[in-house]
Amino acid sequence: MTQEQWNAVDRYVTDLLVPADEALTAALAASEAAGLPAINVAPNQGKLLHLLAGIQGARTVLEIGTLGGYSTIWLARALPEDGRLISLEYNPGHAEVARANLAHAGLDKIAEVRVGPALETLPRLVAEPGAGPFDLVFIDADKQSNPQYVEWALKLTRPGSLIIVDNAIRGGAVADPESTDPGVVGTRRMYELVAREARLEATAVQTVGVKGWDGFLLARVVA
Ligand code: SAH
Ligand code: DHB
Ligand code: MG
Repeated sequence: MTQEQWNAVDRYVTDLLVPADEALTAALAASEAAGLPAINVAPNQGKLLHLLAGIQGARTVLEIGTLGGYSTIWLARALPEDGRLISLEYNPGHAEVARANLAHAGLDKIAEVRVGPALETLPRLVAEPGAGPFDLVFIDADKQSNPQYVEWALKLTRPGSLIIVDNAIRGGAVADPESTDPGVVGTRRMYELVAREARLEATAVQTVGVKGWDGFLLARVVA
């Protein structure tokens, strides 16, 4: 299989099942215009996040890694009118683009972007009255901190919550014990943590498509 075939299949699926949408298209255009890297989830992956949030009956979502708010829009659209999404972003420029995209999508009442390194904003969130527990956590920031992000997610969830980690396959690199890439090492440590954590029931699935060969790790909090 080649990248061109993966692209063609993604196009087929997306044309039929994930039709173009003004707010999402505008969010990607504004992100590109602002010079943000195109490392957002693919449209069919965003729709998967949206479906999972809906299946979960989520009213509250925590996202770690906002970028231009593309995945944020997909997740926030699964929430009821009185739902709440908090997205954590390190880069103030990314956060500014995301806030404008969320406002344009009519989601600024539901979704909020908080600026700072997530390892600083997460403890503040734990201390904030009424901030958690979240029904769904989407982890998609710097990959070397994935183990800490899962630890914080456990503090901010309840039995029944769903934790999703993006980029859990990384072109197969995750299965390479020799890798010295900090993102791969962090992601492998995260798998090991999830494997020994009795409070989590988990799997990971590989995906191919316009974003290459990657995947999601899904973990349900069971206790
Ligand atoms: N979830 C987005 C993509 C996120 S890309 C989408 O699919 O649309 C990863 C983002 O994480 C980038 O915007 C990057 O600036 C941010 N990031 C990197 N390190 C971070 C940190 N320590 N804390 C919070 N955000 C971080
Ligand atoms: C990168 C980050 C992501 O979240 C992603 O989905 C793809 C690539 C990156 O940092 O290269
Ligand atoms: Mg990602």
